[in-house]
Amino acid sequence: MSLAEPWDRYAAGSTPRRTVNAKGETTWLNWTQYADHGPDESVLGPVAGRRVLDLGSGSGSNLAHLVTLGATGQGVDVAPARERVARERWGQMPGLEFRTVDVAAFLHETDETFDVVLSIFGAVWFVDPDTLLPLIRSRMAPGGILAFSHLPPGSQGPKPAEAGLRHDHTPDEWRRILTGHGFSDVRVSLIEPPEGRAVGTMLVRASAA
Ligand SMILES: C[S@@+](CC[C@H](N)C(=O)[O-])C[C@H]1O[C@@H](n2cnc3c(N)ncnc32)[C@H](O)[C@@H]1O
Repeated sequence: MSLAEPWDRYAAGSTPRRTVNAKGETTWLNWTQYADHGPDESVLGPVAGRRVLDLGSGSGSNLAHLVTLGATGQGVDVAPARERVARERWGQMPGLEFRTVDVAAFLHETDETFDVVLSIFGAVWFVDPDTLLPLIRSRMAPGGILAFSHLPPGSQGPKPAEAGLRHDHTPDEWRRILTGHGFSDVRVSLIEPPEGRAVGTMLVRASAA
């Protein structure tokens, strides 16, 4: 079975993001599974004028926010339903593009380079890092930033059963894996959950310098 089918079914069951957040903003970036929680895009450093790639971009809302800040954005998602929704919601925004394709296939075929690569509960969590990280690294500009988030290892989380393994790793494992694939300055943090919730969020940031 192709990956597109289970991820398309998953997309059909997911709730669209609100159009306005608690601060009254119409675009924003959220690294966590909780609304109005956790750090913002400053994790990535300045994004104006930067070429940003989102791996597993879903509804495109995080990427659209970066484009409003002056980045150009390429979203890639394997589920056709995601591109439809992302285009409906953000299609008119200059400098923002979406493609329906597996991230590894995209990275193999593109000849572009990116200054920032992000993946929020996205494909970096679902594709073997020994396959994906060399592909990402090969398409990153010197000094580029890779940042991704996922649930802490051992948590129950979002994934259709047919979509294969989830690549949960501890902070030490991510440091070893990323360094082994040529990334430097690897920083892994655990974002505490909001009051009354048990599960936090792992946030990983590395440099392609
Ligand atoms: C849990 S969702 C997160 C979506 C989005 N990043 C967000 O924060 O709302 C995971 C996304 O990754 C996509 N995905 C999973 N594996 C992929 C792959 N190999 N290539 C491209 N997209 C993939 C899925 O279709 C899905 O939209």
